[in-house]
Amino acid sequence: MIIREAVEDDLPAIVEIYNVTVPTRMVTAELEPTTVEARQAWFREHSPQHYPLWVAESKGRVVGWLDFKRFLPRCAYCGTAEISVYVNEEFRRGGVGQRLLEQAIARAPSLGLTALVGLIFGHNEPSLRLFQRLGFEQWGFLPRVAQLDGVERDLVVMGRHCPDRSNPISKPLDHSRTNNQFSDSQRLMYLLMQYRHEPIHSKLLKIRDKYSMLHLDVLILIYHFAKICSANILEIGAFVGGGTIAAAFGVHDSGTAKKIISIEPGGRVKHKRLGTRNIFRDLERNLSRQHVSELITLIKGRSFDSTTISAVNDSLGADKVGLLILDADAAKRRDIDCYCDRFTNGCWMVIDDYYGIDANAKITQSRADVDALVAAGYLQPLGFYGWSTWVGRWIGPQN
Ligand SMILES: C[S@@+](CC[C@H](N)C(=O)[O-])C[C@H]1O[C@@H](n2cnc3c(N)ncnc32)[C@H](O)[C@@H]1O
Repeated sequence: MIIREAVEDDLPAIVEIYNVTVPTRMVTAELEPTTVEARQAWFREHSPQHYPLWVAESKGRVVGWLDFKRFLPRCAYCGTAEISVYVNEEFRRGGVGQRLLEQAIARAPSLGLTALVGLIFGHNEPSLRLFQRLGFEQWGFLPRVAQLDGVERDLVVMGRHCPDRSNPISKPLDHSRTNNQFSDSQRLMYLLMQYRHEPIHSKLLKIRDKYSMLHLDVLILIYHFAKICSANILEIGAFVGGGTIAAAFGVHDSGTAKKIISIEPGGRVKHKRLGTRNIFRDLERNLSRQHVSELITLIKGRSFDSTTISAVNDSLGADKVGLLILDADAAKRRDIDCYCDRFTNGCWMVIDDYYGIDANAKITQSRADVDALVAAGYLQPLGFYGWSTWVGRWIGPQN
């Protein structure tokens, strides 16, 4: 299941899920079903940056939704939003509502919100339990304020701060070591949850499954490096485009013009998930499917062939490379020697095949090359990544 921003095409499914709840008199105070037309203005009131409307999607089907709205119109309340959650009845008790609420809590600070409230009928025990499980407390109780088919019903205001103020995450650091460690790990988990809820995470998860041999976290690093790097991007060993597409998304989201030059000789590969009889054809097709072809200069050839080096130089002109993605064969030093005069000082480097549990010849040579460049002071490690990819920066002598 993924959670994403709703688009207008989701409106029929959103309305259908909502309408099923109307006759139950458990969830909404609306007494009659609504229509897509009636909900269009409501849909457009949402904004991804402050009051989003998200849908939970499973196998291409909208199975639930959550929306944020102003709690009260006065300015002083702008840090507090009211949230509503609706789940398709077939998917109730499947964790959909919980996932949506967890995301709302995790994303609230980045939406400029410090508190969330849910207005829930007193007799809607499943919703009250769900909110309670996620740290909401009863902040208000309005007795017999709703008339549902002649029955007077109570309204409960469930609320929580984001982050939770009774939780060590949001308290100032205590100087005792244990408390520091506890609160550091809580913060880390909180950041991790927030990060996993970013839309780019699920977008790249799909790219990784369809097109990449790299780990999802490596694709995310490539995306961010491509977004922040100050010069162009050179990729050696594009295969069918996983890393290339991640870089293209980063360049797109950076809003700046950067070239992505990808070198791939083509060929065929036997692979359980990603086997292909024609790497280059599939690479072109995948870039086109992801609508990123125009961002990428593809060079068909081997990295060290003189024609490839000339093509890279022609494409770069006087420009530099600010991110190198090196995932071809074991000769890392050879490829770096071919292009290092184009690297910026501090060029981000993503080099695969550095580590493997059963080290093979490719890994042994790759690692020896990288270690030698680190020892010579040309490469600066940023950290070691156990899923085989080395990440660092170029600080070599040519700059
Ligand atoms: C492990 S795959 C790359 C995986 C890719 N980065 C991804 O995201 O899935 C290695 C690729 O490097 C290519 N390759 C091998 N030697 C090369 C060279 N000298 N120059 C450029 N590409 C090369 C291979 O054809 C293969 O497609």
